[in-house]
Amino acid sequence: MWERLFKKKDIEQLLREANNEQAGFKRTLSVWHLVALGIGAIVGTGIFVITGQAAADYAGPALTISFVISAVACVLAGLCYAEFASMLPVSGSVYSYSYATIGEGLAWFIGWTLILEYLFACASVSVGWSGYMLSLLDRWNIHLSPLLSRPTFDHLPTGEWVLTGSLLNFPAFFILTIITLFLLGGIRQTAWINNLVVIIKVSVILLFVAFGISYIDPGNYVPYIPENSGQFGVYGWSGILRGAGVVFYAYLGFDALSTTAQETRHPQRDMPRAILISLSICALLYVMVTFVLTGIVNYKELHTDAPIALAIDRAGEGLSWLGPFIKIGAIAGLSSVILVMMLGQSRIYYAIAKDGLLPKVLARVTPQGVPRNATLLAGLLSTLFASLFPLHVLTEMVSMGTMMAFCIVCVAVVVLRHTRPDLSRPFKVPFVPYLPLLGALICMAQMISLPGSTWTRLGVWTVVGCMVYIFYGRKHSTLS
Ligand code: ALA
Repeated sequence: MWERLFKKKDIEQLLREANNEQAGFKRTLSVWHLVALGIGAIVGTGIFVITGQAAADYAGPALTISFVISAVACVLAGLCYAEFASMLPVSGSVYSYSYATIGEGLAWFIGWTLILEYLFACASVSVGWSGYMLSLLDRWNIHLSPLLSRPTFDHLPTGEWVLTGSLLNFPAFFILTIITLFLLGGIRQTAWINNLVVIIKVSVILLFVAFGISYIDPGNYVPYIPENSGQFGVYGWSGILRGAGVVFYAYLGFDALSTTAQETRHPQRDMPRAILISLSICALLYVMVTFVLTGIVNYKELHTDAPIALAIDRAGEGLSWLGPFIKIGAIAGLSSVILVMMLGQSRIYYAIAKDGLLPKVLARVTPQGVPRNATLLAGLLSTLFASLFPLHVLTEMVSMGTMMAFCIVCVAVVVLRHTRPDLSRPFKVPFVPYLPLLGALICMAQMISLPGSTWTRLGVWTVVGCMVYIFYGRKHSTLS
């Protein structure tokens, strides 16, 4: 049993499988497609929703510094993803990396964790999308029945689960269905739609920065780092650090890029570049938006779910024309996050099923290069969770799954440098083992800061995963 858990997949075999045209994927993505997919997955709820609260509660105008710190933490994990993606350009991302380095048991656990990350990311962002859509419809005097506008269940602070009286969250169900249909059209169509959406959301953000800058009141930057309130994490440097932890969510998504390695023209060269370029562009956008936002509105008044819309209102007549564009930008932004996360989710099902740890039907690829069954399963499960569960439960699970994956990829880089120093690494993380270990430590610290109930849910998720492995995966694994 223990031996099986540590049984590794041969790296050379993994590389042969990835390069085998019979695998069915089409290599169509260029470096710029990848950068757009990266920005598509990264820019979403974080900048359009969370920024205001984080500035108001923790960091004040110095949230710009929090964004830089958070970017550095992500770049550490990003560098490790880049080394792996250049060495093993396969669609299973960390799942495949750990299958080749640590063994089947841990690989399954990671694969199961990645499913958690991408599944809950799709579900949570679509619930956020639903909120934005409902507020836009409200403005146009279109009111959806309460039976269709909320999730079926809610989780109260007392720990109790209650029925909300609503049948399902229909807008979330709607957007997930549309996105599943887009994905079934193939990677070329998906990349094309993503490019369009990214152009819209980045243009809206740049318009806000370019026009908003002249409405900045320098008085709002005094003091730039508000004095600590006496409580850890509320302003001052500790507030900047807590702010960095909160806005970490805004950078999540770049890892989903690595799941498209088998659909990329030159994955070894382009994957590392795309991960680092998309992270840098997003960091720059985030710092600029936060600078303008906290310059227009005093941080103490930023307690809102729609901070950019508030800044536009405050700027007055001169900027009011930008209001509708911001809503459209936010809706577009959230749509592409769902699109790329769903793409990642389907590729993970595909990779795991190909190894026999999930039913093989999920590894079937159509002649157009679409893993159809895996995509349908991703759509179905995301729709189910998004329609039924509230936003806060879903987002906490995303952070947990992602940190765990980041942590493992950082450790795996160090392990593989020792066990297989001979492998060709077109991209190498500098200062190994220090940088990867620092990345792993930062992720662990962030995981520990998550609420206990999230750990309990992770426990339940893991137990279900162990059952699937024991009763299905172990018996059907191609390694046996
Ligand atoms: N980074 C993604 C967002 O902010 C998850 O929505």
